Amino acid sequence: MYVQTLPWVANYDENEVPPFVLPDVLKSVDGTPIKDTAAWEANRPALLEQFRKVMYGARLPLADKTEYTLLHEKKEALDGAAVMRQIELKFSMNNGRSHKAVMLLFIPAGATAEKPAAVFTGLTFNGNHVVNDDPDIIVTGTAGEEFRSFDRTPGAQTRRFPLKEMMARNYALAICSYHDFFPDAAAGWKKSILPLFISDEEFEPRPRNISAISVWAWGLSRMLDCLETIPEIDSTKAAVIGHSRLGKTALWAGAEDTRFKLVCVNDSGCGGAAPNRRLYGETLFCMCRQACDGFGHYWFTDTMFKDCEHPEDLPIDQHQLIALIAPRAVAVHSATEDQWADPRGEYMSLQNASPVYALYGKEILTATEPPAPDTPVGTDMSYFLREGKHDLLPSDWECYMNAFDHALKG
Ligand code: GCU
Repeated sequence: MYVQTLPWVANYDENEVPPFVLPDVLKSVDGTPIKDTAAWEANRPALLEQFRKVMYGARLPLADKTEYTLLHEKKEALDGAAVMRQIELKFSMNNGRSHKAVMLLFIPAGATAEKPAAVFTGLTFNGNHVVNDDPDIIVTGTAGEEFRSFDRTPGAQTRRFPLKEMMARNYALAICSYHDFFPDAAAGWKKSILPLFISDEEFEPRPRNISAISVWAWGLSRMLDCLETIPEIDSTKAAVIGHSRLGKTALWAGAEDTRFKLVCVNDSGCGGAAPNRRLYGETLFCMCRQACDGFGHYWFTDTMFKDCEHPEDLPIDQHQLIALIAPRAVAVHSATEDQWADPRGEYMSLQNASPVYALYGKEILTATEPPAPDTPVGTDMSYFLREGKHDLLPSDWECYMNAFDHALKG
């Protein structure tokens, strides 16, 4: 049987996974059984609060003042398929502190105030300029440049954003750099949005009841606030999407902000869709005890740092986080060569959220075994195991857009 120790060696043998039991998703925080949607909704705030306490940290309030400034507009972007806008989001406090982020927006060419488009909302690694090679896209996310490798090449990650396909299916895309809200490093605290809400005295030792993931998720909600002011966007039809650590973030953002009608969770792995209790691939212990690049201790709270060794004692597991999305649509994707993220476990969490979706009469996933590679399954709750590596690719987007089509029909 596999035991977690340092130095870290991940387990990839199904036969070595220690047995575990997931918490009952239909049991409320106070122990009473949940039999209907009213009981689920009555329990929802307490469950959300448990996730805040144990894993992701507190939710930031709004800034005292938020202003949007159009920095640039191109009416014929993507060879005429889209209108491209770049909008500065400025958050200010009455004490004079302020912080900025830049949102890049592609709106399908045919969208109007009368016929507004639905929108995918997401964050990028690096900055907005990696999304497309249009030279007019402003290089953003530079606050993260001192902490990790930073590519200034326009369009460095175009494979992750099939913009023309999105525009053809009438979906807008709104993107910000995650570094604009919280540069992705432990020392990123000081250059994040946090100093707007936390005084210098409170800053050292660094606040521990909040995490980078909760700040990134907050940023996604603030992007949606801005989208609410854009006539050609129907912000009541917004999806949130994220890959990898940003997949963990999309899941948390979807739990915190019910305005997101579809939550797309790509290769999110440990701390995302993969069960905490299943010791396969990356685990919370590995992530938080700095065995894996030391990410976990600022992506999550101090509580997680302490509790990661014994996931079986945690009051929650990730299928309950997925259930917090219900009855809204959720799409979980994995990749065959991304065993680090535990594809089988990601499916298991999604499938184990089914009883809550069933309360709402949604179509659930009944199969306990994940589907074969490249065979998408489900509608309200959907799963896709892409053949290939850890990435976000056009075939993922095709399934996410299908899930969005379905959600919007409903
Ligand atoms: C590392 C980390 C994962 C994370 C991934 C990423 O592999 O261990 O938890 O999802 O980075 O965000 O790229």
